Amino acid sequence: MVYNIALVKGDGIGPEIVSSAVKVLEKVGAKYGHEFKCTDYLAGGCAIDATGMPLPEETVEGCKASDSVLLGAVGGPKWDKLPGDKRPEKALLGLRKALGLYTNLRPAKLYPALKEECPLRADIVEQGFDLMMVRELTGGIYFGDRGRRDGKYGPEAYDTEAYSVMEIERIARAAFDAARKRRKNVISIDKANVLETSRLWRETVHRIGEEYPDVQLSDMLVDNAAMQLVRRPSQFDVVVTSNMFGDILSDEASQITGSIGLLPSASLGATKCGLYEPIHGSAPDIAGQDRANPIATILSAAMMLRYAFDLSEEADCIERAVDEVLAAGLRTADIVGNSGATPLSCTEMTEEILKRI
Ligand code: IPM
Ligand code: MG
Repeated sequence: MVYNIALVKGDGIGPEIVSSAVKVLEKVGAKYGHEFKCTDYLAGGCAIDATGMPLPEETVEGCKASDSVLLGAVGGPKWDKLPGDKRPEKALLGLRKALGLYTNLRPAKLYPALKEECPLRADIVEQGFDLMMVRELTGGIYFGDRGRRDGKYGPEAYDTEAYSVMEIERIARAAFDAARKRRKNVISIDKANVLETSRLWRETVHRIGEEYPDVQLSDMLVDNAAMQLVRRPSQFDVVVTSNMFGDILSDEASQITGSIGLLPSASLGATKCGLYEPIHGSAPDIAGQDRANPIATILSAAMMLRYAFDLSEEADCIERAVDEVLAAGLRTADIVGNSGATPLSCTEMTEEILKRI
């Protein structure tokens, strides 16, 4: 089979980590007899430099026409002073919206080999955790009306959170479907004690939950969830939440796995063509130094094989290779911790993973 993949390498460490993932895809393709045809598209700061716009139309069209998108990261200090709608981040939000990718799956699990890197207490680490964050990705406050205006006390700014029943229904279904393939437990996170959007969220998630009697559903307020994630992460199986809460909580979830450099994500819509990207950013401080951890992007490529192309054996093969490098004590700088290991470069880590495919 031939699969057309749009590569959006982006900024900072983006090009390094996407190149690593492409090497892994090529190796897997050679092993299992698939061809992954990759085409580069610009988005983010590099697109601003080249075209004056963070998300050129050509990129949107190219991504739409592809079978899936693999994205590195966007943004950096060079573009930080630009107005909101001209910033590199706008490219990512715009691409998610243009491709209709309303479901963001962010798995976070503790690798036994990385227990030492987990900042939690030993007895909590012993219980382990393996959760799936289902973040709503094209609605809420990140897409609501925003602006500046003259307020009662002078100039003020505002952002608006709005959720329609339809948007909540479809993300709830995505979460319940995910739970059916896991431990059949969904915790819906909101701030229903304050926000009206959260009250509609809760109501709607429960109504959809009735269609899934085999899945256990409960609610948790977001402030409590932030606490429970470090107190007893093993209680979470599938977590479903809004765009902003999911953004924040998924970074927290990544820290308890040891490093944000490990977490992949899949952004999916109504079609199987999705966007796959690490949850971390462009890490401008280490860009171009060959020090980045390529694992989150490599695991994102594995998620692409599993979700977009139904190639689960091939995805397993990549995930196993990652398990093996970690179990062998191989570490990039972000996960070296107190292990005493010599940190591998991005290139060396990629080579080690390739060897195991
Ligand atoms: C993420 C990032 C993005 C987001 C930013 C870069 C717009 O933080 O993917 O989590 O908020 O969604
Ligand atoms: Mg984020």
